[in-house]
Amino acid sequence: MVNLGDVFPDFEAESTQGKLKFHAWMGGSWSILFSHPADFTPVCTTELADVQRLSEEFKKRGVKLVALSCDDTKSHCDWSKDVIAYCKKGSSCQDKELSFPIISDPKRELAVQLGMVDPDEKDAAGLPLTCRAVFIIGPDNKLKLSMLYPATTGRNFAEILRVVDSLQLTATKKVATPANWQAGGEVMVVPSLSKEEALAQFPNHEVFDVPSKKSYIRLTTLD
Ligand code: BEZ
Repeated sequence: MVNLGDVFPDFEAESTQGKLKFHAWMGGSWSILFSHPADFTPVCTTELADVQRLSEEFKKRGVKLVALSCDDTKSHCDWSKDVIAYCKKGSSCQDKELSFPIISDPKRELAVQLGMVDPDEKDAAGLPLTCRAVFIIGPDNKLKLSMLYPATTGRNFAEILRVVDSLQLTATKKVATPANWQAGGEVMVVPSLSKEEALAQFPNHEVFDVPSKKSYIRLTTLD
């Protein structure tokens, strides 16, 4: 298992864009690795199509994307054509190919190494499938966020984009983002800043009055 703050494993794997050595492939960028139970499955197809539709938004934020599914590279390449066809459903997407690689993990080596095995899902040969994992890795190669969904629940990639906005903001400013925050919205001064530090760094912040009279809800906007 990889914990938050750990250096993400520098694994090597085959992908639809050739052999990939993870840290070299990241090249010091923010990166997202997201796994899928299997190729040619309905929920996975909707997810990859959604990532493709959002790929320009991830690119604007300097985020590299890579998918992983347990099947082999030939299967991934064939499946990618279905995904591209599905991208057009309800959207004007005209992309001809996926803009991100799909890693092959037929022996489940990465699935086991990264703690992504779904205990309930097996392929036709009885081999375990990967769950729907999301790993967001920072430019320092360290894990910043992980999520694990079961195979039967598709993810919301607009939420993952929102999370990237929060991670990138809070990596450079002593703030935290509240529930349902969206880029540009009000943020909270982190509890570790003293009153003096908070005033110096965020002179316009306001303290929300609460019955406890503890001054811990410190709200501010950012330029
Ligand atoms: C799917 O992607 O549709 C799926 C894959 C494995 C189990 C359940 C659903």
